[in-house]
Amino acid sequence: MLTKEQNERLTRVGPGTPGGELLRRYWLPISVAEDLTDDKPTKFVRVLGENLVLFKDKSGRVGLLDDRCSHRGASLCYGRVEERGISCAYHGWLYDVKGNCLETPPEPAESKFPATVKHKAYPVQKFIGMYWTYMGPQPAPLIPQYDAWARKDGRRKIFIQPQLDCNWFQAMENSVDPAHLQILHQETALDAARGRKPVSTTRGFTDDVTRFEFEEVPIGIIKRRFYTNGIKDEHPLIFPNILRQFNGTQIRVPIDDTHTMIFIVRFMPTEDGSIIEDESDPPVVHVKPYKEPVEEIHPRTRFRLNEVQAQDHMAWETQGPIADRTRERLATSDAGVVMLRDLMFREMDRVAKGLDPKGVVREQAGNEIIDTHLMESIREMNFWREGRELPESLRV
Ligand code: FES
Ligand SMILES: [Fe+2]
Repeated sequence: MLTKEQNERLTRVGPGTPGGELLRRYWLPISVAEDLTDDKPTKFVRVLGENLVLFKDKSGRVGLLDDRCSHRGASLCYGRVEERGISCAYHGWLYDVKGNCLETPPEPAESKFPATVKHKAYPVQKFIGMYWTYMGPQPAPLIPQYDAWARKDGRRKIFIQPQLDCNWFQAMENSVDPAHLQILHQETALDAARGRKPVSTTRGFTDDVTRFEFEEVPIGIIKRRFYTNGIKDEHPLIFPNILRQFNGTQIRVPIDDTHTMIFIVRFMPTEDGSIIEDESDPPVVHVKPYKEPVEEIHPRTRFRLNEVQAQDHMAWETQGPIADRTRERLATSDAGVVMLRDLMFREMDRVAKGLDPKGVVREQAGNEIIDTHLMESIREMNFWREGRELPESLRV
């Protein structure tokens, strides 16, 4: 259980909040590359409580600016893009991707006024078919090259999840909550993986698991499930906002305190380890909504529960727009949740002291491919799927 103040500290994402400052130390994906086209070169994005416009100018540079024009506040989403940047539709103030104001057409030709205007701008990088931004102090760190993103011996696919209408940290707590798999997902995940019939009982497949274990590692927290049949199943939570699933990563990006966008980057290795030379952007799938009506929140909407991710969204959203952690009863299976909260508090303190929080990468050395044991996890899951005995090498 937390105090009201601790809960605020853990969940707020806006500028100047401890959690918001922590999240501003990492590169965050904000859009897929195909969202910007010649016909639609601007896109409104709200990230960490800030209203922004992502755009591609006619020279091919991509920028992320405050959506509110520095002049009198019209939306730059309706701006005209040209070679040098984006020009506000209202009075034509022209901004480049760095936020420099290059022109203010209604001012006298000899005016030096544009040079006095500095518009808020964040750097953008394209990586694995997505645009990423960094909203913290310069110098910016590097995008960590986690194996699911950086390995070349396989293909990637991006799944854009329906918007999650609650605070991002509820999804992160779920990522260190191994117990829910055997209960919440008993009718979908486990039968598919192990060829067993859904049970639909209170205990679900809980008795398959002998114990859980959590360990802090350099990239985050590893959670482990030990099964009665000798299998050990482990994936890291990559601090602060990523779940590494058995075949990829799920990246949670706060839109604001009570809304979250989620990108799943799936990685499918080649059977023989061969390298895929294709450098084109991964295909993108927009996952259909998990609830109806889509724009409502619990209890005015109803979730479908026929998919694992839909079940998770139900569990996260129905905890409330921001879960009230002053009213909860944590038990022994919540040890990972407690560990993650402690880690957040500790790392927010580091940021407040001007230090880099956990997982920030600044040196290219060691950032070629960061091993999260993805390949072992995929192999293990394939054995489950095929119902084969696990070889000695994969046993605990
Ligand atoms: S409001 Fe943008 S140029 Fe006037
Ligand atoms: Fe889940």
